[in-house]
Amino acid sequence: MSVVAVPATAQAVREQICARASAYFDGADRFAFYFAHFKLKSDPLFTDVLLSGALSGCRNLIDLGCGQGLLTAWLLAARAQRRQGPWPTNWPEPPVLMRTRGVDLRATSIARARAALGEHADFQVQDLRDADCSGADAVAILDALHFIDYAEQRQRLEHIRACLPAGGVLLLRIANASSGFSYRLARWVDRLNDFARDGRIPHISCRSVPDWLTLLRRCGFEAQAQERSSGSSFANTLLIARAA
Ligand SMILES: C[S@@+](CC[C@H](N)C(=O)[O-])C[C@H]1O[C@@H](n2cnc3c(N)ncnc32)[C@H](O)[C@@H]1O
Repeated sequence: MSVVAVPATAQAVREQICARASAYFDGADRFAFYFAHFKLKSDPLFTDVLLSGALSGCRNLIDLGCGQGLLTAWLLAARAQRRQGPWPTNWPEPPVLMRTRGVDLRATSIARARAALGEHADFQVQDLRDADCSGADAVAILDALHFIDYAEQRQRLEHIRACLPAGGVLLLRIANASSGFSYRLARWVDRLNDFARDGRIPHISCRSVPDWLTLLRRCGFEAQAQERSSGSSFANTLLIARAA
């Protein structure tokens, strides 16, 4: 997959969005603030979501496995940046979200999301397998779907497809099981992270990018892998799927 260079001015805007998004976590605990700052700055995912334009027209987003709500913070910050400028002329519009929901199994992450973003979005402790996606025109599952087993992944994608209107968007960042060492490294990072936070080593069910794309097609999506704007995200790949 090729890597597209982000011009210097765009890099400055990216840093401003990052600072705005991290600032939501300023009043939350220190871990939440530093984690937000580190992850938003170092992971190209958030810029990739913005530059893809996939969410531009979306109004009603649900984020499954939302963690502490970084995607919501990023999108709100991008909207504020768009209003107050500067904003690169060749960047797509950030979404104007009317309703945002997030669910995650981890109560501490949901507490952090609520403390930072509770005025803007609804965050619930819930298993993503049980979350009702009705009413959403955009669904995000970023680095979370591989924590449920293969049959459950398919059921979840079928549920999402049934809920989305035609043209509705699913953003899925997945672990690419065919990317060798970086894949194995990323999975061990996942396992160690979960062990440190929850005291358990999760079972992980991954596929190669072509297998994810095939599954998405079978579930009624048109899907493609998004090019990375910059940097590394281990073996993780952003897929953009639209309800066919
Ligand atoms: C690697 S983190 C990604 C968090 C967030 N999507 C982000 O990009 O910042 C994976 C998240 O998935 C959550 N998770 C794992 N299995 C889950 C499940 N069955 N239901 C809800 N959340 C789950 C974990 O608690 C964790 O917060």
